[in-house]
Amino acid sequence: MNTVMKTYWNMRYNDGCIWGYEPCPSAVMSNDWFHKHRVVNVLVPGCGYGRNSLWLAKQGFYVTAFDVSDTAIELAVEQSRNQSLDIEYHVADVFDDTFLVNRYFDGIYLSNVIHLFLNEQRRSLLDRLTSLLRPNGILTFSCISVFDTNNYGIGSEVESNTFEKHEGKPLHFFSEEELRHVLSNNYEVLKCQLHTQTETDPSGESEELKLWFVVARKL
Ligand SMILES: C[S@@+](CC[C@H](N)C(=O)[O-])C[C@H]1O[C@@H](n2cnc3c(N)ncnc32)[C@H](O)[C@@H]1O
Repeated sequence: MNTVMKTYWNMRYNDGCIWGYEPCPSAVMSNDWFHKHRVVNVLVPGCGYGRNSLWLAKQGFYVTAFDVSDTAIELAVEQSRNQSLDIEYHVADVFDDTFLVNRYFDGIYLSNVIHLFLNEQRRSLLDRLTSLLRPNGILTFSCISVFDTNNYGIGSEVESNTFEKHEGKPLHFFSEEELRHVLSNNYEVLKCQLHTQTETDPSGESEELKLWFVVARKL
């Protein structure tokens, strides 16, 4: 278990459901793609406190979701109970390949997680997700783009297009070319589009993120 990440995210989620309860725009867009491709079961890695996994379950998918933060999962489980939603939640590390052994999903939805890692870890994260997706399965994700001028370039550049505002917390900014390259071996890219996500934190401060929304079909 990645204890640095776990400690950091537990501390963030001690303030509760910090970005509110509405699903991300990328979850809403994923819903259409999942229905179009007859997805039945969806995996949501790094689900946080559940704003997207709860919403996807309400759209009729069988949802399995996990996060490295136990504080986040407690919040998610509480909401799913209050709303009588049957969602399989786990506290787990996405890099732990002893978790979800022999489980395969029609769809995977990953919101704002892949950009939190350095190059080698991003590759192994993608490999791990690919191994959990059935052939023809649909991977959708959002990630920060090089066009996010509010955040791009802040801190020290530890790798190409990767900046650390706080030491040990990289943020990688994707170009479309890079996204298509990293997906090219195992996926057909069905959509790669920019969108804006507005995040409002508990103090009421808003931030506009320029994100990619990507839809890819496993070959
Ligand atoms: C920016 S937050 C996004 C949360 C959620 N996807 C959302 O959009 O509300 C990133 C999430 O990734 C989780 N995370 C980070 N590293 C992880 C890992 N190695 N395994 C599982 N989850 C991880 C964090 O705990 C955090 O909840």
